[in-house]
Amino acid sequence: MSTIAFARGIPSPDILPIAELADCAKYVIENDGTTVLNYGHAFGYAPLREWLAEQHGVTPDRVALTVGSLAGFNMVAREFFAGDIPSREAVVEAPTYDRTILALRGAGAEIRPVAVTEEGLDLDGLERLLSTNPAPRLLYLIPTFQNPSGRTHSEDERRAVVELAQARGVTVFEDDPSRLVRYEGEDVPSLFELAGGENVIFAGSFSKTAAPGLRVGYLVVPQGIVKPLQNALSTMYISPPMLPQAAIHELIRRGLFEPTLERTRTELKARRDARFEALERSMPAGTSWSRPEGGYFLWVDLPSGVKVAPLLERAEAVDVTFVSGPDFFVDGSGDEALRLAFSYPSVAEIHEGIDRLGRLIADAQSA
Ligand SMILES: Cc1ncc(COP(=O)(O)O)c(C=O)c1O
Repeated sequence: MSTIAFARGIPSPDILPIAELADCAKYVIENDGTTVLNYGHAFGYAPLREWLAEQHGVTPDRVALTVGSLAGFNMVAREFFAGDIPSREAVVEAPTYDRTILALRGAGAEIRPVAVTEEGLDLDGLERLLSTNPAPRLLYLIPTFQNPSGRTHSEDERRAVVELAQARGVTVFEDDPSRLVRYEGEDVPSLFELAGGENVIFAGSFSKTAAPGLRVGYLVVPQGIVKPLQNALSTMYISPPMLPQAAIHELIRRGLFEPTLERTRTELKARRDARFEALERSMPAGTSWSRPEGGYFLWVDLPSGVKVAPLLERAEAVDVTFVSGPDFFVDGSGDEALRLAFSYPSVAEIHEGIDRLGRLIADAQSA
């Protein structure tokens, strides 16, 4: 068996809508080639922007299609932390997405973590962090099926977050790429919706719902940053590649987006369920894990005293990979935790990989 990859949140090859997108791409080149093969608007392909604007209840000028949502976040971070500003602080969840930490550091932000645990977001801690003078520049949250923890903030927590941020005039960046990949439970309103579209930048993506290789993400931004963002993006790349954006739009226009999403949900749910079953069977006492209702990731807390760094070395020696907890913290904590992505390996590989991991943890515990 080749390496069992629990490291990256990428879809297994059988989930990708290959035939559908091939046909859509051919169609848009043939039918709208003069648009998609030329330079275009800095915010991308207009019909997809219009569709997204309708989904989010905003005007299309506020929707920026980006080369994946991470590029969108990087651009916002650079804009927000450029020049002489009263505060360089960015508040993020602990743990949070590792690439966000890198992007914020690259933009010159000072990162302040607020804990998110199985009990939820530490709202008192958040209030303290937002109460500084001057207030932090940005609050970055992944409220749904969080990367890395898989956790989802409740509606009450979201309302409290919006209230705190509004009271302090802090812009929220809501990074929500997996929102539609829910396989059970009730949908929760976005921070963007709860804030009435004010002072929240919403980031979505077609990476988790259609195909990450298309690199189609988007931002819904407040009117005030439309112009600076347009300038920054056109300076960066004139316009983003419109062919993948048009292919996605065509998939939607043909009514094939929802069935694609449904297949992703079904396949990922089967893999998540296999993961739960295998963890239940194979993990030694003292190990616990999160129970996401959707998305690509879950979080494992190792038994006390079992360190993740040597565990990863031993896991790689038996061809299992995952990402270590400290990658998701600004201060190196999380050294007895890890993130498992459950999207790529097959159900059989999941069982085999978790069995191997369980044995290694039990060995580490008894060493
Ligand atoms: C929270 C979060 N934001 C952004 C991304 C990157 O998304 P994209 O492929 O749209 O750049 C990911 C990918 O896993 C993610 O989990």
